[in-house]
Amino acid sequence: MTSAPAPVSDTSARLAPPVGLLAELTHRCPLQCPYCSNPLELERAKDELPTDVWQRVFQDAADLGVLQLHLSGGEPAVRTDLEALVAHGAGAGLYTNLITSGVTLNESRLHALRDAGLAHVQISLQDVDAANADRLAHYEGAHAKKLRLAEAVRKTGLALTLNAPIHRHNVMRTADFIDLAVAAGARRLEIAHVQYYGWALANRAALMPTRAQMDESIAIVEEARVRLKGILTIDLVVPDYYAIRPKPCMGGWGRGLITITPSGKAMPCHAAATIPGLLFDNVRDRPLAEIWTSSAAFAQFRGTDWMLEPCRSCDLRERDWGGCRCQALAFTGDARNADPACAKSGWHAAFTAAAAAEASAEPPPFRFRRMAAP
Ligand code: FES
Repeated sequence: MTSAPAPVSDTSARLAPPVGLLAELTHRCPLQCPYCSNPLELERAKDELPTDVWQRVFQDAADLGVLQLHLSGGEPAVRTDLEALVAHGAGAGLYTNLITSGVTLNESRLHALRDAGLAHVQISLQDVDAANADRLAHYEGAHAKKLRLAEAVRKTGLALTLNAPIHRHNVMRTADFIDLAVAAGARRLEIAHVQYYGWALANRAALMPTRAQMDESIAIVEEARVRLKGILTIDLVVPDYYAIRPKPCMGGWGRGLITITPSGKAMPCHAAATIPGLLFDNVRDRPLAEIWTSSAAFAQFRGTDWMLEPCRSCDLRERDWGGCRCQALAFTGDARNADPACAKSGWHAAFTAAAAAEASAEPPPFRFRRMAAP
């Protein structure tokens, strides 16, 4: 920490366009992963945006300067209009990426998506052990279907990334994930220690690895990065609970990403709805460019003016942007506080101790991701 220079904030006059648009096309999903980052209150099919509104949003995004379109969910492939959505996004000039569980897509639909302009497919894996993978997904045969889709993606020539959310039930197989990614012909693998939002936060005690397990998995990734240079790029996400510095969540609030929920709420991150008092504009009612520059929810934590100490006078405040607002709220009760992942936060010791205590205790049963009864 240093003496306090005047905080610097963004102004709309020099607000750059977002790089990415995350379109959560639906919260419907055949899988029930207990670490899902979707909210506990899942949005229903009847409230989902229709095809023409999504298409207008994609054109608005391209006009605004967005470069990447991430089609996500839930499972985006349960939308029967996925091909039309991909065609529109790609036609607008967006690099179009499909983030899928991989259990509902077959080869012919994959070809149709490629022909519509899809550029990239990201498939999430629960484990490399098929029985444990299916247990985590609560879906028998899920793992085998994912491997078949990965093979089909490779054959189509589409870029393939595998995503491995890591936790105490699979962290011991980090090296096997890397071997699997090489064998599947993926060019990129995300070894992503679970971030605790949504269902993952509700299941934190069942998922948290020990510090020693995390350290071992990081060492495995670092060795493999050197060994597999030019063959496989490995992205590593470490668990916030064992960090010293917070991540610049979403690259900073309202700086690089817009998330649109299935019903059309425009949010700075996927968990922003947990923060009380934020008012989200809906893309049904307001153009995307106007939301980006003027929405109260995006302005709330943009820049640094909103910061309290220790963030306000910290040298790194424009590098990490105070960390994660949703995590600050979840652990400290106030979204304006420093992310407790930061060693400068007064909550940091309790944050780390909570992880250590949960990781060393017997894991409780999972609370699987399910839509609440109507
Ligand atoms: Fe909302 Fe980090 S998930 S700011």
